[in-house]
Amino acid sequence: MNPKIAVIGAGNVGATCALYLAQQELGDIVLTDIVEGVPQGKALDILQAAGPLGINVSIKGTNDYADIKGSDLVLVTAGLPRKPGMDRLDLLKMNADICGGIAKEIKTHAPDAIVIVVSNPIDVMVYHTFKITGFPSHRIIGQAGVLDSSRCAAFVAMELGCSVKDVNAMVLGGHGDTMVPLPRFTTVSGVPITDLIPAERIQAISDRTRQGGAEIVNLLKTGSAYYAPAASTVKMAASILKDSHHVLPCSAYLTGQYGLEDVYVGVPCSLGRKGIEKIISLDLSEEELKALQSSAAVYKSSLKDLGY
Ligand code: LAC
Repeated sequence: MNPKIAVIGAGNVGATCALYLAQQELGDIVLTDIVEGVPQGKALDILQAAGPLGINVSIKGTNDYADIKGSDLVLVTAGLPRKPGMDRLDLLKMNADICGGIAKEIKTHAPDAIVIVVSNPIDVMVYHTFKITGFPSHRIIGQAGVLDSSRCAAFVAMELGCSVKDVNAMVLGGHGDTMVPLPRFTTVSGVPITDLIPAERIQAISDRTRQGGAEIVNLLKTGSAYYAPAASTVKMAASILKDSHHVLPCSAYLTGQYGLEDVYVGVPCSLGRKGIEKIISLDLSEEELKALQSSAAVYKSSLKDLGY
């Protein structure tokens, strides 16, 4: 039997996730949104793209959460995107209400699912989802590090004029201004970029990575990025559904790793059919560890604003 994948939110990120999931034939897709007609229309559109794309697609658009029943994987993309000048944390209260409601629906209809939370501010929304569902933490994962690392990889490839396929970037921490690009762990065919790119250019790449989402918000003016966020989410989904054990930076619940506890923040994780199989502890320098811990502190204090 095909895996069942529910995508909650049929906006730009959700619909693009559905398209990429369909293109990779990863399972039977249910696209859900509260707006009548939108998930149905986008699902039908993707279904009709199947011929020219040469793929077999199983997708249903719905406004009824009962349709996510028994899902193996749920991608939560619903919520408001940023407008120019807004920080991701400005979305906190509004998106907490939306994600809280969705978490209750997931708990009711898909109690065995693995959940990837994409809604911003991700590191807070994923904690909120963890608390409301009561699912074990290995089944509640935040998407952020894959996106931030893919942005960093794109900038490294642009800098060196090399293939982005050879770049393996590593960005940890929260999905915001305090994220922690790790040049020592960012490599081109195994060679750290610290051996390939001058320090001031690495600094510029790290700064642009931190501002990667805002750069696109400022260009689009009416919303935030969606191709790379969706591609990053589906990369995680594929590793889970195919049990590939890829090591990817994910927002994970920490219980002492990196000196952090009771917080979700981006760290390298191995992803397979059970969700997070392992949190990998990198040998960070004192400065790198301090940056990760300061990033986590920002999200810990936001959790207090939600009453945690
Ligand atoms: C971004 C938003 C989606 O980084 O958080 O583009």
